[in-house]
Amino acid sequence: FDAVDVIRTKRDGGRLDDAQIDWVIDAYTRGAVADEQMSALAMAILLRGMAMPEIERWTAAMIASGERLDLGSVTRPTVDKHSTGGVGDKITLPLAPLVAACGAAVPQLSGRGLGHTGGTLDKLESIRGWRAGLTNAEFLAQLDDVGAVVCAAGAELAPADRKLYALRDVTGTVEAIPLIASSIMSKKIAEGSSALVLDVKVGTGAFMKSRDDAAELARTMVALGTAAGTHTVALLTDMSTPLGLTAGNALEVRESVEVLAGGGPADVVELTLALAREMLAGAGIDTDPADALRDGRAMDVWRAMIAAQGGDPTAPLPTARETHVVTAPSSGVLTRLDALAVGVAAWRLGAGRARKEDPVSAGAGVVLHAKPGDQVTAGQPLLELHADEPVRFERALAALEDGWEIGDTAPARKLVLDRIA
Ligand code: URA
Repeated sequence: FDAVDVIRTKRDGGRLDDAQIDWVIDAYTRGAVADEQMSALAMAILLRGMAMPEIERWTAAMIASGERLDLGSVTRPTVDKHSTGGVGDKITLPLAPLVAACGAAVPQLSGRGLGHTGGTLDKLESIRGWRAGLTNAEFLAQLDDVGAVVCAAGAELAPADRKLYALRDVTGTVEAIPLIASSIMSKKIAEGSSALVLDVKVGTGAFMKSRDDAAELARTMVALGTAAGTHTVALLTDMSTPLGLTAGNALEVRESVEVLAGGGPADVVELTLALAREMLAGAGIDTDPADALRDGRAMDVWRAMIAAQGGDPTAPLPTARETHVVTAPSSGVLTRLDALAVGVAAWRLGAGRARKEDPVSAGAGVVLHAKPGDQVTAGQPLLELHADEPVRFERALAALEDGWEIGDTAPARKLVLDRIA
C-alpha cells in the first residue's frame, strides 16, 4: 500500500476499502505513515465524509491497534456512559455510584479537560489523595467490590486514537462526525462493557452546535455500538447553558456531593436520573434510581469509590484564594446565560488547561447565582468568579461580556431533547 494512494482515494470522494483502512491505521500507529500524511487523510475525511461501512472498519482498526479489556470476570452486568463534553457536566460523579448502588458495575475510563470543557479526572483529583491511575487488576477488583470505577484509560487502549486525536487537535480536523464517532466508540467498545449510554450534547457549549449534527453523531455512534454487540442508546441533551450552578473542579465535586445527599440543582438531578434509567435498562435491572439517591445508598458507594482510589471523601475541598462577584445591572428575568461563555471564563480562571501538560487549579471556576428563567433584582449577585490569582478576573470577565442577558421572559428549557436507539 501507499499512503498517497489512500489519501487520493478519499480526496477524490472515493470509498476506502477494508484493506486500505486496516493498513493505514496500523501503519500510522507504528509510525510508518507520517503525521503529515495522516493529517491530509483526516482533512479529506472531514471534507468528503465516510460511509457507514468505512466508519465501522475504521473503528474496528482503531480497537485492534491496542488491547481490549475483558470484563468477563465481573459478576454484575456492566454498563458505561459517555458524554461528548459540556460546561458544568459533572454528571459522571453522582451517576456512576448511583448506578452501582442499583446493582450494575460501571467501568468509567475518563479523560482530562482540554479547552473550555472540563474533564472528570481533573474534577476528582481535587479530592485529597485520590488517584486516577489504576492497574488492570486494581480496576477489575474495584469494579467487583465497589461497583464503580472512574479512572484514566491505560496507554494500551486504542493507541491509534490517542495519536490521531492529538494530530486532529492541531490540524483543524476534530469536527468530523466519522472521526469523532470512531474515536469515542473505539475506546468505549475496547473498554468492554455490555451496555453503553451516550449523552450527546447540543448547543453553544458543545462540540455539536446544531441539533441535526448532534443527531447524526448520535445515530452514527449508536450504529457502531450496536454493530459491535454493545447495547447502545443515546440521549441528545441541551448544552446551551451550563449544567447546575458550578463550573470548575472542586466546585463541581461539591455540587455532585449535594446531589448524592439528596439535594442539588434540579437539572443535574434530572439528567442524572434520566441517564441512570437508561443505564439500568441497558443492564437489565428493573429498579427506580431515585430511591438510591433518597436513601443514601448512592452516597455510600461514592465514599467507597473515592476511598478505594486513595481519596478521603471527608476531607475539605480546596477553595480558590480570590473571588470576584458580578452583579445584575437591572431587574428582570435572566433570559440567557451562555454555556460557552461560562466555560471559557472557568477555563481562563484556571479550571482548564491550554496545553495537555498544563496543571489545573482545583479551586478555580464560576458559581452561578441565577439560571435562565430566574427572576433577578438589580444589584444582586449573578456570577461569582473563583481564581488563585486576581489577574485572571479581567480575562474571564471579557469572556462573559456578551454571555448573558436580562429581559422579560426566558424560553423554557428542555433538557433531554431526543432519544436515539
Ligand atoms: N472525544 C473523543 O474522544 N474523540 C473525539 O474525536 C472528540 C471527542
